[in-house]
Amino acid sequence: MQVLGIETSCDETGVAIYDSEQGLLGHELYSQVELHAQYGGVVPELASRDHVRKLIPLIKQLLAEINIKPSEINGVAYTAGPGLIGALLVGAAVGRSLAWAWQIPAIGVHHLEGHLLATMLELPAPCFPFLTLLVSGGHTQLIQVTAMGKYTLLGESTDDAAGEAFDKTAKLLKLGYPGGPALAKLAEQGNPETFYFTRPMTRQPGLNFSFSGLKTQVLTTWNNQELKNEQVKADIARAFEDAVIDTLIIKCRRAIKQTGLSCLVIAGGVGANKRLRERMEQFTQQIGVSLFYPRPIFCTDNGAMIAYAGALRLAKGQQEPLEFAAHPRWPLEEC
Ligand code: KG4
Ligand code: ZN
Repeated sequence: MQVLGIETSCDETGVAIYDSEQGLLGHELYSQVELHAQYGGVVPELASRDHVRKLIPLIKQLLAEINIKPSEINGVAYTAGPGLIGALLVGAAVGRSLAWAWQIPAIGVHHLEGHLLATMLELPAPCFPFLTLLVSGGHTQLIQVTAMGKYTLLGESTDDAAGEAFDKTAKLLKLGYPGGPALAKLAEQGNPETFYFTRPMTRQPGLNFSFSGLKTQVLTTWNNQELKNEQVKADIARAFEDAVIDTLIIKCRRAIKQTGLSCLVIAGGVGANKRLRERMEQFTQQIGVSLFYPRPIFCTDNGAMIAYAGALRLAKGQQEPLEFAAHPRWPLEEC
């Protein structure tokens, strides 16, 4: 079965073809970063309009590249939520219409399920059950994944998500948009000994997170510096990154102890962070747990994860009726 995957939940237009026997046949990604950069963040209406402009040409480009005709496609999967409603509706309308025109089934995929399962596009792939740390721009969650569609939320951020904290902190330090990768790059030049920020919510029990206070610590520290040069900025970036990573590791350690799971999967955009990957590798090796994560380009939003999750659901016989829906808010456990 060959499934076309469409991702348009935020500021990336992603498309891919996944073949249930041969694996991923190809994928294409168009990032709207330049469009939103001048506003310092994603402008939802501009995002929707750009998806309208780019989605169909991107699908045509992908099919030409991998030499596949529409008649060879057996199903269409599109991100149905959560995300920006206008952006989601573009992918859902195009996906559902193509499926109708091609007389094949369509399936609306939960964006976070896509992230959770993206690791399965890699070799070796993790086996169920596993623990997932999902760290994206909108979510920070620890999820017990028992099987496809069986997700138990163990803990989540009560305020800013990890990616959001990276982005907001980067904005405070005037690093531009998108903030996460820029802050991570600057942190590489930073001295880890200069500043120290707290590891939020690690003293009390539980698996929830709170990252919103970190940006205030960053701002206060920056404002208190007499010398405001690039090195000080880099030292602050490094201390911030270390605080986030330490916190994530402390909570993963707790979740592994609580669930007894021996397999940890990192998913979502922050999973592309180099230092996070290195530190997670050290940590899991120490405690004898297997670690899996997608290649960096499949940590951030992409069409491949949607094609893959959609292919699994279509193979189970699930499909959407002709009318389609998009859900800007959609708890993972309800998908
Ligand atoms: O999963 P994703 O592409 O979109 C959502 O579903 O939210 O995640 C985007 C988030 C952004 O907040 C971005 O700043 C962050 O992931 N991010 C990073 C890095 N690359 C992307 N954060 C830290 N270090 C990175 N290298
Ligand atoms: Zn995402």
